[in-house]
Amino acid sequence: MPSNIALIKYMGKTDHKQNAATNGSCSMTLDGFRSTVEIRANDNSASDNWEALETDYPLPVGVGNRFLSFFHKLKTNESLADQTFTIRSGNNFPSDCGLASSASSFAALTMAAECCFADLKDRSVRAPEELANISRTGSGSSCRSFFAPWCLWEGESITAMDSKMPALMDFVLVCGSKHKAVSSSEAHRRVATSPLMDSRMERISDRLARSRSAIAEGDYNTVCEVAWEDMWEMHSLFHTSQPPFFYFSPKTISVLQFVERTWKSGVFMPIATIDAGPNVHLLIPAEQVKEFRKLLATEFGESHKEGVPIRYLESGA
Ligand code: PMV
Repeated sequence: MPSNIALIKYMGKTDHKQNAATNGSCSMTLDGFRSTVEIRANDNSASDNWEALETDYPLPVGVGNRFLSFFHKLKTNESLADQTFTIRSGNNFPSDCGLASSASSFAALTMAAECCFADLKDRSVRAPEELANISRTGSGSSCRSFFAPWCLWEGESITAMDSKMPALMDFVLVCGSKHKAVSSSEAHRRVATSPLMDSRMERISDRLARSRSAIAEGDYNTVCEVAWEDMWEMHSLFHTSQPPFFYFSPKTISVLQFVERTWKSGVFMPIATIDAGPNVHLLIPAEQVKEFRKLLATEFGESHKEGVPIRYLESGA
């Protein structure tokens, strides 16, 4: 299953166990950043176990209890709690680049488990809306990976969006790779303490509506403008929470300055956004990708070379 990048951010929960979001969000699905999950029934093993799939970027040993405990919940819902399984998973993108993989990996786990259980129970695989809602309870943002190229998540409604947007390529400018000091789960909790949270709730439905109609109409500049507003607002929540926290690194700031210079030059209009981390996502129409790569190379060095200050990864929608 693919990852996704939100332009209107999901930040804050009304129910932390079920990942019920305080606000609606929308995202572009990143077809090029994928997680694969393989599930096999064990013959005799007392518990489920996890192994890294052999990919170009094998995951480090031990993927964390959240993954296995979500699987436990999925199999319990199917009355298969007594059966144990081996779960193998991997990503086609590096795990040391600070890119969150929870959206793609939880979506892939939900999908693989569904296929496995449907097979064992001789039933059909459920509809994507239902699976997206199940996946949401493992990792909120994963629910948006079930629809492409654009997805809208509002409450329990997770749907594909109408779009006249051009095909876009996502460049992820890697501005930090360290383990996050504040997990996104903790960020969802802490933003409730920000004095900006109440007024965000007043602004967010209008912003989501603007983004939604701009995506539907292919109004690129409005999509770009609204994404920038919402990115800053989410990061302002972080800076004004108790205790405050932030994810930007010095490299993040230099990429944001590059974005403003680029907009001013008028040649490229990257749609820029940042999740709960230091990396900057720049969305560029597919037809401009070659020229934009050249600009990035001039600005930050050639990404494939060792020791470049800021490297990037690419994914099309
Ligand atoms: O699903 P989580 O808990 O990883 O939420 C992360 C939410 C953001 O990535 C910060 C924003 C979003 O809408 O994806």
